[in-house]
Amino acid sequence: MELPFAESWKIKMVEPLRKSTREEREQWIKEADYNLFQLKSDQVYIDCLTDSGTGAMSDRQWAAMMMGDESYAGSASFFQLKDTITKITGFEYVIPTHQGRAAENVLFSHLVTPGAIVPGNSHFDTTKGHIESRKAFAVDCTVDEAKDTQLEVPFKGNVDPKKLEAVLAEKAELVPFIIVTITNNTAGGQPVSMQNLREVRAIADKYGKRVIFDSARFVENAYFIYTREEGYGDKTIKEICKEMFSYADGMTMSSKKDGLVNMGGFIATRHEDWFEGAKKYCIPFEGFLTYGGMNGRDMAALAVGLDENTELETIETRVRQVQYLAAKLDEYGIPYQRPVGGHALFVDADRVLDQVPKEEFPAQTLAIELYIEAGVRGCEIGYILADRDPVTRENRFGGLDLLRLCIARRVYTNNHMDVIAAALKNVYDRRHEITRGVKIVWETELMRHFTVKLERL
Ligand code: F0G
Repeated sequence: MELPFAESWKIKMVEPLRKSTREEREQWIKEADYNLFQLKSDQVYIDCLTDSGTGAMSDRQWAAMMMGDESYAGSASFFQLKDTITKITGFEYVIPTHQGRAAENVLFSHLVTPGAIVPGNSHFDTTKGHIESRKAFAVDCTVDEAKDTQLEVPFKGNVDPKKLEAVLAEKAELVPFIIVTITNNTAGGQPVSMQNLREVRAIADKYGKRVIFDSARFVENAYFIYTREEGYGDKTIKEICKEMFSYADGMTMSSKKDGLVNMGGFIATRHEDWFEGAKKYCIPFEGFLTYGGMNGRDMAALAVGLDENTELETIETRVRQVQYLAAKLDEYGIPYQRPVGGHALFVDADRVLDQVPKEEFPAQTLAIELYIEAGVRGCEIGYILADRDPVTRENRFGGLDLLRLCIARRVYTNNHMDVIAAALKNVYDRRHEITRGVKIVWETELMRHFTVKLERL
């Protein structure tokens, strides 16, 4: 008999989980103004809010922590990290930052000016925030297929070359760079093909533009290329990563995802002028160039994490757990962004709660219902997160309204996946009884989802 697939690790340390009653959860979510970001973690049983900084480090990473060099300048841990990044990406210049959005802040301070246009594939909310707060515009050129959650295509995160070319043909002089997010988080953790990265490069070259990869989940992207794109099945994950980055000029990175650490980020580039420009903002915002907001020990752990995650066994274990959960949802007939992405399941809330009007935020409503059902915390990637249009101040209802259930790396077992799926099925089974959603009673101008206050209707 063929042996089943199993995790490429065993567990050395455990952390207790707390369960609660439905009554407690109803009270807690009300006190949190129906915003799941405002819950305390011990009010949550299984936390699928994010895969960002929530993973478990390996024994090798913990061992590296002990060897961290905390020197203010010239830390050995920085050079370990820099060498690892250069080996994986080919980028020579590296600036550490405290997390991904800090990398955006530092690099965009140098590159984005008022009136600029930054085309890309579904910019992540912080990326969009850092563009719009500089009075510039993020233009989404994602392929239309990404909007149809039921369509099974292998690379739904792709940039539509026609849309990208149209932006450049019309307004090239306003474009400081193109940004490609791998994987495309907002569209459902969907990968971008190598072919597409090549096409983006060709268009960029035609107009003399540079390309940045927002690389938070670049290893997951490489794994999908390995499993889905012709010609890559016999390559190593590291070889695939190297080729992906060969089509970019630089990257911003949230190390909290595919770096397998709990905090950290960096900028890496092949261009000295970008490095010089970004340096000026790193020092006042983040810190000196050889730590940029990170502890020496955290840089040491990140170097190991990047190396470890770019090995097939590690990334395969990770993505296959997400696929395990998706298979359960298939069994129950619950619609989600298909095929499932690398880090999360994105339930199509518009389809599940089809009686809740858009203006009452179906995905947020579904997130609240799931929490009350079983203490499973997901998050809305939808109309609340989309913020208001900076010009008209209207809500943006043009995109998808999804409930994201992120899977932390190396944290939960497949038994937990079974619980998540069963909880979701219970909500799904009573979906026709859910006809009203929520209304916003307080919000901020940008990135309102973190602090928004809601009332249940
Ligand atoms: N880019 C992408 C694609 C992301 O998913 C994130 C963060 C960032 C940039 C910003 O990185 O958090 O280190 O500052 N995503 C988290 C999430 C928050 O839950 O998806 P950060």
